[in-house]
Amino acid sequence: MNQAYEKLLNCYESCKSKVDFVPKVALVLGSGLGDFADTIRQEAVLDYGDIEGFPQSTVEGHQGRFIFGYVKDVPVVCMQGRVHYYEGYPMNDVVLPIRLMKLMGAEILFLTNAAGGVNLDYRPGDLMLIRDHISVLVPSPLIGPNCNALGLRFCDMSDTYDGALRSVIRKTAEAMGISIQEGVYMQFTGPQYETPAEIRMARTLGADAVGMSTACEAVAANHMGMHICGISCITNMAAGVTSQPLSHEEVQETADRTAPLFKKLVTESIGALAEAI
Ligand code: HPA
Repeated sequence: MNQAYEKLLNCYESCKSKVDFVPKVALVLGSGLGDFADTIRQEAVLDYGDIEGFPQSTVEGHQGRFIFGYVKDVPVVCMQGRVHYYEGYPMNDVVLPIRLMKLMGAEILFLTNAAGGVNLDYRPGDLMLIRDHISVLVPSPLIGPNCNALGLRFCDMSDTYDGALRSVIRKTAEAMGISIQEGVYMQFTGPQYETPAEIRMARTLGADAVGMSTACEAVAANHMGMHICGISCITNMAAGVTSQPLSHEEVQETADRTAPLFKKLVTESIGALAEAI
C-alpha cells in the first residue's frame, strides 16, 4: 500500500478509536481565530499528540488539537493549529489532517488564514473570500504515487473554491452588514515574509493576497472531492506596499483585532453552508 495512505489510515483508526463523532464541516482556524473553539458546543477534544503518527505543530501560539462539536447545530471538526510546510514536514504530512477530517466524515472544508494584502485596494483588517489560488511555488501534496482510494491522478481544479459556498458566504456577510473582498490567494513557502519584488510578481500574476498555508490544503481536499471555501484576514499590507517593515506582531495584532467580526461571520456562514450542499 502507498506509504502516505497507510499512515493516514493508521491516524484514522487511532482517531476513530478515541472519538465517535461524524462532522459535516471541517474548519481550519488561522492566526487569531484560535479561540473560535470556545464558541463551539464541544463534544470531544483530541490532541494531535494522542493520534498515532500525526505530525506535530511547533509554531508558537499554535495549539494542536481537533475539536469536535456543534456550531449552530451543524456537526463540525475544528483544527486548532495547522501544520505548515515551513516547519519542515513533507507535504503529505502537511495535508494529513485535512485528509483525516474528510475520512471522519466532513464534506465541507472551511479554510481560514492570515494573509498579506497584495491588492492595493485592500486594508489591514479586511476579510477576503478566496475565489481561487496560486500554488505553483509550493510542491503539490499529490506528488508521488496516486492513491486511487482518495482521488484521481489528474484532478480538476477549475472550481476548487465552490461557487455555491462562496455565494452563501457573500450573502451571509451582506446580511450581517460585513463588507468582504473577494480575491486570489497565493501561497509562498515562508517562513520569511516576501520581498517587495516577490510581491510585485504576485500582483502581476493575479494574486490579491499572500500567505504560507491554505492552497496546499485546498489541493488535497479537492483531490478527495470536498466542497471548499476559505476566508483570509488581511493582517498587513504585503512587503513593499508601505515603507513599514513586516512583523509577526503586526500580523497577530490585526488578526486579534479582527477576530470578533471574523468569528461571527464564520459562525453564521457555517449555519448557512451546511444547507447549501
Ligand atoms: N506574507 C505571508 N504570509 C502572511 C503575511 C504576509 O504578508 N501576513 C500574514 N501571513
